[in-house]
Amino acid sequence: MFSWGIAATGGIARVVGQVIAAEPGMRVAAVGSRDAGRARRLAEDLGAPRSYGSYAELVRDPEVDAVFVATPHSHHLQVTELAIAAGRAVLCEKPLTATVADAERMVKLAQDSGVFLMEAMWMRFNPLVRRLHALVLDGAFGTIRSVTASFGFSLPYDPAHRLWNPSLGGGALLDLGIYPLALAQLLLGEPETMAVTGAQAASGVDAEAGLLLGYPDGARALLDTSLVSPLANTATVVGTKLRAELDGPFFATRRMVLHGGGNIEEITVDPSDNGYVGEIREVRDRLAAGATESTVMPLADSLAMMRLIERARLAIG
Ligand SMILES: NC(=O)c1ccc[n+]([C@@H]2O[C@H](COP(=O)([O-])OP(=O)(O)OC[C@H]3O[C@@H](n4cnc5c(N)ncnc54)[C@H](OP(=O)(O)O)[C@@H]3O)[C@@H](O)[C@H]2O)c1
Repeated sequence: MFSWGIAATGGIARVVGQVIAAEPGMRVAAVGSRDAGRARRLAEDLGAPRSYGSYAELVRDPEVDAVFVATPHSHHLQVTELAIAAGRAVLCEKPLTATVADAERMVKLAQDSGVFLMEAMWMRFNPLVRRLHALVLDGAFGTIRSVTASFGFSLPYDPAHRLWNPSLGGGALLDLGIYPLALAQLLLGEPETMAVTGAQAASGVDAEAGLLLGYPDGARALLDTSLVSPLANTATVVGTKLRAELDGPFFATRRMVLHGGGNIEEITVDPSDNGYVGEIREVRDRLAAGATESTVMPLADSLAMMRLIERARLAIG
């Protein structure tokens, strides 16, 4: 039985906790929170035998094989450091941290300690995104010329909310823009140029951003993210032979339509097969293989992502 410790009791802690609890061969062994009552309640809901009123106690639980870090980005490093010091593998929510410096520190710590670390970029484990990536690698698209993707919604302004609060790593880019950027990164790699246009919220975080990434062969990515507008949240990938349209939200898509050579092919997946299942299985399987990172979501890509986001955030202010 592969046993997880869940650090935090917020939205994604509960969602992924439920996926773990439903996965054969896995269980939530313990939940940790800043508050013992919240930890106990989530542990009860997930069928976890133990709960702790601190993250430090959670990571010391001897039965925990891996810790899922589900705090705000600003607190990922702190919790991950505790877990690594206790020798526990870590699945850390996206983005790895709120700054490049913190992400570099986290990765170095994991590597120096020989402890498994992976960013929970679940989009990479979505079955249709994996299919798309495989088709691109196989040359079915010819040469990729553009990736267009957006993720944004209209969130009422509240400076205390995690997404608007700079001290909790708020802003559209770190939380939402990371998904369009992750799709471009997966399919096009490292951009050569980046043009950014956006606006800040009164709290100082980026409220919206449009990005044009340029690649050495002239390919481009047109990406949009926003906390102030309901964007389409879809993605289009255009190659010289084929075009793919991904239904929204594209990072958890259930339907992809391929257009090319006069043909239209629709591919759908079972709604239960989401990226969360893939990411938790990856941690178990890579650990069983003695690895310290994932090949699907490598740490070098997480660091490259942090550098891109930081560049874009600085460009906005
Ligand atoms: N993969 C996905 O689909 C997905 C979706 C949403 C979010 N996320 C990522 O997951 C992380 C958490 O997001 P969320 O939406 O779950 O956030 P949330 O609902 O606000 O929950 C965050 C939790 O972190 C803990 N925490 C620790 N220090 C905190 C602090 N100083 N202020 C507030 N909370 C603190 C709290 O739990 P305790 O008080 O119990 O310790 C809180 O419940 C973020 O990094 C986000 O990017 C991923």
